Amino acid sequence: MSKKADERADMQEQLVLRTRQAEEVIEQYLPHETGHQRTVFEAMNYSVRAGGKRLRPMLMQETYRLFGGSGQEVEPFMAAIEMIHTSSLIHDDLPCMDNDELRRGKPTTWVKYGYDMAVLAGDALLIYAVETAAKACAMTENGGTVARAIGLMAEKTGIYGMIGGQVVDVELTNQPIPREKLDFIYHLKTGALLEASMMIGALLGGADASALSIVERLASLVGVAFQIQDDILDVTATTEQLGKPALSDERNQKTTYVTLEGIDKARADVAKMSAEAIKLLHLLPGENPFLEGLIQMLITREK
Ligand code: IPE
Ligand code: IPE
Ligand code: MG
Ligand code: MG
Ligand code: MG
Repeated sequence: MSKKADERADMQEQLVLRTRQAEEVIEQYLPHETGHQRTVFEAMNYSVRAGGKRLRPMLMQETYRLFGGSGQEVEPFMAAIEMIHTSSLIHDDLPCMDNDELRRGKPTTWVKYGYDMAVLAGDALLIYAVETAAKACAMTENGGTVARAIGLMAEKTGIYGMIGGQVVDVELTNQPIPREKLDFIYHLKTGALLEASMMIGALLGGADASALSIVERLASLVGVAFQIQDDILDVTATTEQLGKPALSDERNQKTTYVTLEGIDKARADVAKMSAEAIKLLHLLPGENPFLEGLIQMLITREK
């Protein structure tokens, strides 16, 4: 095998291992399915356990390691960010939003548990994420940093972050969107949660203010590139490959980066943004080849 192929195989092996480790962490924080409100626990766990790439918790943990973090307090945050992400997917798939019936290779939460329970499961995951992250207080002496991380998580998820982006995305469905508005949507609906993931890792790992701002810029680039690649895959990949319906954007008459700029420019821009992100990564102290490989891999991902 060539050196490059060797490195790729090694990266793949690491990825499988670390995805499994992230899943083990997440699993520890899921609610037990007992009590009168059991249905909502089941719906929450169904969606989280359905799978997914676990990209956000992995990016968080690897950024934490990059700054020398070696404690446990990052773990409740890893679970929390995956809960928030999953809650966004549950709501994104609802009939009133993207109206999709397949997610992570399984029927969507509203198809399986009903519209009412899917709304509640999404809400429940969102606030349970905060309850979960707060458990980090008992795992470190540094309560102030945990509080800052919780504040950051809320800010990047809420009206100035992911939810704000989804609002504009939904409002502008079915109509042309100028490029600057599309950029706003992508920065918020997808970029903000990636920023939260990496910034929380950095903050807990001990990053100073200037490093934190580099992490924010680099995560934003990764997030926007990730969403553009998602738009590309919507038109180039199969439903089986994605575990969610291909051509969902077309069915919903969405303006996407691909409809606006064409597939070739979309591909080129994903590569350009990822390269810029890696340049920023090199400005940070410490080294984490796996983190670099992970960012690199997002350019060529096929699901
Ligand atoms: C899907 O995110 C939603 C977007 C922001 C494009 P992922 O592609 O990370 O979904 P999972 O977690 O792997 O299912
Ligand atoms: C949604 O974008 C991003 C979220 C914040 C959930 P999409 O609507 O393109 O995500 P998919 O393609 O359904 O995963
Ligand atoms: Mg959507
Ligand atoms: Mg969608
Ligand atoms: Mg999509």
